[in-house]
Amino acid sequence: MSSDLEVTRSHPVPDPGIPEHVERWADVDPEASRRAERQVAACFGAVPVLALGFVAVYFFMPRTWAVQFAGLHASAQHTWLGLLGGVAVLLVGVGAVQWARLIMGDHEISEERHPAGSNTADREEVLGDVDEGIAQSDLPRRKLIGNTLKIALPALALPALVPLLDMGPWPGPGTRAATIETTIWSVGVHLVTDVTYKRIKATDMVVGELVNAEPENIQDLNNDPAAKASAIAKAAIIIVRMEPSTIKIPQSRKDWQVDGILCYSKICTHVGCPISLWEQQTHHLLCPCHQSTFDLGNSGVVVFGPAARSLPQLPITTDSEGYLVARSGFTVPVGPSYFERDSNHDYQDGDN
Ligand code: FES
Repeated sequence: MSSDLEVTRSHPVPDPGIPEHVERWADVDPEASRRAERQVAACFGAVPVLALGFVAVYFFMPRTWAVQFAGLHASAQHTWLGLLGGVAVLLVGVGAVQWARLIMGDHEISEERHPAGSNTADREEVLGDVDEGIAQSDLPRRKLIGNTLKIALPALALPALVPLLDMGPWPGPGTRAATIETTIWSVGVHLVTDVTYKRIKATDMVVGELVNAEPENIQDLNNDPAAKASAIAKAAIIIVRMEPSTIKIPQSRKDWQVDGILCYSKICTHVGCPISLWEQQTHHLLCPCHQSTFDLGNSGVVVFGPAARSLPQLPITTDSEGYLVARSGFTVPVGPSYFERDSNHDYQDGDN
């Protein structure tokens, strides 16, 4: 009785041993073996074709084409890119699984449990097992699989790399100057509200008021929604009116304002949220995203939060009828900072 108990304690589960080895069709039938090899090679061989199809769809399928399916409306190009890229990855997986199931060696191995730390002998044994695994993969003999796999895996880089072109042109100095560092503001462009699109008369603004506005020439882009969205993302502004005697106006910006009416970019210089939380009494403008706070009564300097530079100010004046117009474009790039940006012309607290 006591010896039975000891056996149960040291071997709580009887060792079932290794099950009887069953040969696979591909092990006993040379034709089945060749068929399996062709299946795997066909999977890998289709991958470069699908990858090239992905590239062709990316460049040549019109982006306006759409597919209707079960009530869904989707971009035809996106649908095909997803299908071709997805099936290419799937075929690499299917080919690898079939290779392991039908062609690689399938000898059963039993391994004793052992302490976590490995000694030198164990490590050498593992390395030997790895070598044996490579040998069992049958790659040295199955040249067709090896060759198709060598083409299939690099081909998968195409679907991963080509869509990077959608990130736009490389942002060198020329590209930045023509894109993110410029807006459609220029001399004489009228300021209009972003709701009614009506011009704004200086005499209509009262002290303490904030108006969300945009350039009147944004309407010229009505037929090109993408260009309009891109332009408004940079050109959006806020106009505030403060009592001139309560604010600091540096000498160099004396003619950038009209009787205490000042105009600033609406885009936060931290990471670009639109801002219009205005504290009339303190003249502070608060960004709701990370609480950067700008003093609009002091040329937009940062008084709190993570933003690293002042809010860009748009120089304004009035036309012959008293409507607010831009005196020029912004003198510095609007929006978030980035490493290559020239910050030499940003306003610093105390500048004249
Ligand atoms: S985006 Fe304005 S504080 Fe971060």
